[in-house]
Amino acid sequence: MATLSHHHGLRLFMLSCVLVGVLCKDLAETHHTIEVSSLLPSASCKPSATKGARKTSSLKVAHRHGPCAPGSQNPNSQAPQLTHDDILRADQSRVDSINSRMTSKPPLVTRLDDVRESKTTDIPSKSGRTVGSGNYVVTLGLGAPWKQMTLIFDTGSDLTWTQCKPCVKQCYQQREPMYDSMASASYRNISCTSDACSHLTTTTGIDPDCSASTCVYGIQYGDSSYSVGFLAKDKLRVTTTDTFDSFIFGCGQNNQGHFGQSAGLLGLGRDKLSFVEQSAAKYGRYFSYCLPSSLSSTGHLTFGKGSRGSNVKFTPLATIKEAASFYGINIEGINVGGRVLSISASTFSNAPAIIDSGTVITRLPPTAYAALKNAFKQGMSKYPKAPALSILDTCYDMSAYTTVSIPKVGFSFNGAGNIDLDPSGILYATDASQICLAFASNSDDTDVIIYGNVQQQTFEVVYDIEASRIGFLAKGC
Ligand SMILES: *[C@@H]1O[C@H](CO)[C@@H](O)[C@H](O)[C@H]1NC(C)=O
Repeated sequence: MATLSHHHGLRLFMLSCVLVGVLCKDLAETHHTIEVSSLLPSASCKPSATKGARKTSSLKVAHRHGPCAPGSQNPNSQAPQLTHDDILRADQSRVDSINSRMTSKPPLVTRLDDVRESKTTDIPSKSGRTVGSGNYVVTLGLGAPWKQMTLIFDTGSDLTWTQCKPCVKQCYQQREPMYDSMASASYRNISCTSDACSHLTTTTGIDPDCSASTCVYGIQYGDSSYSVGFLAKDKLRVTTTDTFDSFIFGCGQNNQGHFGQSAGLLGLGRDKLSFVEQSAAKYGRYFSYCLPSSLSSTGHLTFGKGSRGSNVKFTPLATIKEAASFYGINIEGINVGGRVLSISASTFSNAPAIIDSGTVITRLPPTAYAALKNAFKQGMSKYPKAPALSILDTCYDMSAYTTVSIPKVGFSFNGAGNIDLDPSGILYATDASQICLAFASNSDDTDVIIYGNVQQQTFEVVYDIEASRIGFLAKGC
């Protein structure tokens, strides 16, 4: 029935195109006509056929709450169901934490037990690294013999860590068997006197500790999730051909928080201890990812340059001096339904802006958000409204429609020109009766502007750090 009426709608649409040629061409340029069902996730995994760029190392990316995540079909390891409200609330704590890293607001102090039974370490959450809920996972191998581990990848933090037996303090439930340092022939502790250990202060924002000459790291994330453990090195296996013999990572002995059932985190920030820097000799500080259009599809995370067409639109990579591990960008404008919104240039230059793989919803300065929302509402006036969903205040009830026509939304980045978002990057759907504009307002014009992962969906986003630029290629997965 749904398919039938969809075809019928499409035929009517095409017929009216023939009748009013010019108007229709305009409509196709300024609007997306989409099936409502395409915005809703399905219960089974439908992997994308598009692979990462040739001659490079590519990992499959899945949403960790979706059916494509490794082990998600195993009935014994079902994660507690998160609501969209939970996801969006966690997203706000990530954003709050990114903002506190960029300002010198007084630190909130949280007490955490470190791995040494007798001692406690104060971990200021001001310097907390950031992890939200709407994150994506990839699967790598660690140790000899190697064990599979599924990690959340995060461009907003640097240290890679995994839960580590014997879990001196406590570990959360994860889907895969836990990495056991004792069972790996190539595992080594890193000493307190090493450069890597002293560098932890920059990497995690927290001074390292020392336990019987082994370096102890602690990292806390915005939503009070944390990991504490030994700084270690072991063999990291990215693909069958790409391994790194002495990869430095955190062997987490005390881990709690919103990591779902993943084994830990893959840090893709710009700091010296991040995966990007540790693999620089092989991959040349070049990686890209494509985040799938829904929870039930897959994308890729690809390391190394490979052969990419000339269609990538690049914008210069900016450095945020208060938080140098973030990837800074410059937004110059927004357009809706083919019209450039009138937003003064200073609106975007008054606040730092970053692109982040872990923030779900793009955060805009209040004046820019208001302009976007008003223009979008005008283009959507024929659809019935629906209640707000957490931080998303512009929602529609589309349950009576099979297909809808929505205004296109594009972002222009310095040097890259306008980039038209995929429909999955414009709307966030809980179900057909509540489909919301997938943007949110910052509370202050000086808050950090964040280009979030919903808006990045289906693009191959290229991080060419060596050439200091960020690129976008449409239809990347
Ligand atoms: C690593 O250091 C910890 C803490 O000192 C110690 O308990 C553990 O046995 C060490 N592991 C190895 C393989 O040296």
